[in-house]
Amino acid sequence: MKAIVATDPSADAAGITLTDVPEPTPAINDVIVEVHASGFVPAEWEWPSTWADRSGHERIRPVIGHEFAGVVTALGYGTTGLSVGQRVFGITDWHRDGTLAEAVAVESRNLAPLPGDVPFTIGASLPISGLTAWQGLFDHGRLQSGQTVLAHGAAGAVGSVVTQLAHEFGAYIIGTGRAKDRQAVLDYGANEFLDLDNESVADIGGVDLVFDVIGGAIQKESAGIIRPGGALVSVVGPVQTRPLDGRAVDFVVESIPEQLVQVAQRARDGRIRPHIGTIAALDEAIAALNPTTRRTGKTVIQVRT
Ligand SMILES: NC(=O)c1ccc[n+]([C@@H]2O[C@H](COP(=O)([O-])OP(=O)(O)OC[C@H]3O[C@@H](n4cnc5c(N)ncnc54)[C@H](OP(=O)(O)O)[C@@H]3O)[C@@H](O)[C@H]2O)c1
Repeated sequence: MKAIVATDPSADAAGITLTDVPEPTPAINDVIVEVHASGFVPAEWEWPSTWADRSGHERIRPVIGHEFAGVVTALGYGTTGLSVGQRVFGITDWHRDGTLAEAVAVESRNLAPLPGDVPFTIGASLPISGLTAWQGLFDHGRLQSGQTVLAHGAAGAVGSVVTQLAHEFGAYIIGTGRAKDRQAVLDYGANEFLDLDNESVADIGGVDLVFDVIGGAIQKESAGIIRPGGALVSVVGPVQTRPLDGRAVDFVVESIPEQLVQVAQRARDGRIRPHIGTIAALDEAIAALNPTTRRTGKTVIQVRT
């Protein structure tokens, strides 16, 4: 089958190639899924899990991509809960071969049914950004209605869902980004927009929750405006600057089927509009995944058209 593999940890996007690889075989409690569409998080080739399995052994020519939507074609030994022919979506194990391929073997517990009226491209765009937003706001950020959220990168794949969910749950949202993103961020439901190139986080006043997708100096400034008892939630690695009187959490998203169901319901009824920047066929994926050709928002590769 065709798949996109990474060949060289030091080569970034230049080290990914479209090639033939063996069909996946299901392990205990796995399903095999025919991939229809796959999302992708930029810089995945830099992650340690791309290059080592859970025992620390080197992975050779790993298949990249870890969020997807498709149709179950086979069940592994002992697998329950899903059936052949079912539409599913979710996130696959970071340490196993991924979803930029015609088929993938994945633990069934990582998947949820994808409703028939949600297109595969939409389904594939949501597992990582949708669950990252959900877990950051509710599981780690403990968001309460009426609180103020500083949502960084609010026009991006994660930030746009953060903004839409926080809006739905009754938060006051200050969305950030570049000047070009202002209208999109307000349309996602932010109450205010902060242009990070020309305005200062320090001028905002207090917030209860910072959702950081950028890091660095912006994270440092943001930590300083968190109210007592508030939280800094980061998805860009360990927190560099902690709030004076609040919690700091950095996390990696997990595939939680109940939350996938919540996200799918919102994709159906329009409460979540994913920001998809690029849709490309598998044959065009190498160019589409190159950061220099990539636009803001999620890149989705349509594996089957
Ligand atoms: N830990 C986890 O589980 C997890 C899960 C998902 C994503 N992530 C990470 O989260 C980050 C964001 O992912 P994403 O998919 O949302 O990316 P994305 O779609 O590119 O969104 C990032 C947004 O932030 C904006 N931005 C970045 N730096 C900025 C700056 N200095 N000033 C103003 N705006 C800035 C970008 O604008 P431009 O496009 O104009 O630069 C874009 O709108 C990535 O580093 C990704 O690896 C982590």
